[in-house]
Amino acid sequence: MKYQRPRGTNDLTPDRSPLWRRLRHVYEEVVTQFGYAEVDPPIFEATELFARAVGEDTDVVSKEMYSFTDRKGRSLSLRPEGTAGVVRMVIENGLLGGGGILRLAYWGPMFRYDRPQAGRYRQFHQFGVEALGEGGPALDAELIELLVATLRAAGLGELRVDLGSVGDRCCRPAYVERLREALTGMDDRLCPTCRERRVTNPLRVFDCKETGCHEALKHAPRMLDHLCDDCRAHLERVEALLADQAIPFRRDRDMVRGLDYYTRTVFEVHDPGLGAQSALGGGGRYDHLVEDCGGPPTPAVGFSAGIERLLGVVEQEGALAASERRSYGAYLSLMTPAAEPHAARIAARLRRAIPVEVDFTGRSLKAQLKTANQRGVRFAIILGPDEIDARSATLKDLDSGVQKTLPESDLLELIQAWLASEPPAPRAAPGR
Ligand code: HAM
Repeated sequence: MKYQRPRGTNDLTPDRSPLWRRLRHVYEEVVTQFGYAEVDPPIFEATELFARAVGEDTDVVSKEMYSFTDRKGRSLSLRPEGTAGVVRMVIENGLLGGGGILRLAYWGPMFRYDRPQAGRYRQFHQFGVEALGEGGPALDAELIELLVATLRAAGLGELRVDLGSVGDRCCRPAYVERLREALTGMDDRLCPTCRERRVTNPLRVFDCKETGCHEALKHAPRMLDHLCDDCRAHLERVEALLADQAIPFRRDRDMVRGLDYYTRTVFEVHDPGLGAQSALGGGGRYDHLVEDCGGPPTPAVGFSAGIERLLGVVEQEGALAASERRSYGAYLSLMTPAAEPHAARIAARLRRAIPVEVDFTGRSLKAQLKTANQRGVRFAIILGPDEIDARSATLKDLDSGVQKTLPESDLLELIQAWLASEPPAPRAAPGR
């Protein structure tokens, strides 16, 4: 093969696209039910936005960004995540003035230059939601409920919700100091990057995959044990609200989110059946990000979920039927090129009601009907020389084998009648 897709990317092939579309449909339904409006910021933004929002010391920004200089010398980056762009969009378009909660949803590709492995890609897709303008715990619980509702609507049964808190500007600085102290003198165990992080941003040591750094953290203090009263009360209220909704969760004192903007609640939803990359989605509160990016002080919370990972689980568990059977569609078989205008006219009329695929190949009827069956459509419509002369068509119900030749103008009516009734019992149809 001369050309191959770039490492860490995926092709969405026709066999998987029906499932992809159904997931997209589930996402659209659930976010609509919860009152979220869809937005779509660009796929690249100023590099500076991600550095500012996600954090310069994060792996995502310092190691994984696809950055480039455009023809005017500006540094741009493919988005590694969606929150920064949404926040930029909200500020730039003045969407915050209206009062109430601004609820936004998005779906699209993200890019991270990480080492590819199962469930981890360089181009992947996320759907996500961001809710801005309210700082109370009820909104955090709503988002977790929304994520769980989406995953359940996609057919997933077993989920694990992990919940934590990263504190706020009141309690985190003192905790960071304690952590720094705990790591001081551990330089022999820390990797060179974490030796720097100990000084600049010790929380990021939790991101590191090196064993030495893990060891060094074993006995280090945890944020959850050093929350201020307000942060603790916030977390407990989120937990109470989740319990009310019968959403099972567990507290995770070790949860590391790889992005710097979080305050207070952080959460992840895992599929226990997945291997190392088991997080289907994650998010949390970011009460200062809007202000840090130049907007008015605005508390906010959001999450996003990885669609490739979700697709993998759904396929494994057979949760949504893997092939979308277009059981109401038709396959139009032409027996002669002279039938082309005839076919175009019929297809245009039928497409107002059902999907229609036209076979112009001139292959044998047997070969064409075989393809129709592979497509999983319910009807074949056969156009041969007799039908052209009579402005008629032969409709065949592929489920029952029944077929009937009728005036072209009556086709849709008969299709709709057959669709409305159960497939008629098979009987000896005149062969063709
Ligand atoms: P994140 O945890 O970095 O959060 O990513 C969210 C989800 O995207 C992960 O749980 C995972 O399912 C998927 N994901 C991440 N990286 C990859 C990858 N390399 N390959 C495949 N899937 C991946 C965020 O991105 C935040 N923006 C979430 C958020 C929104 N927080 C507040 N608002």
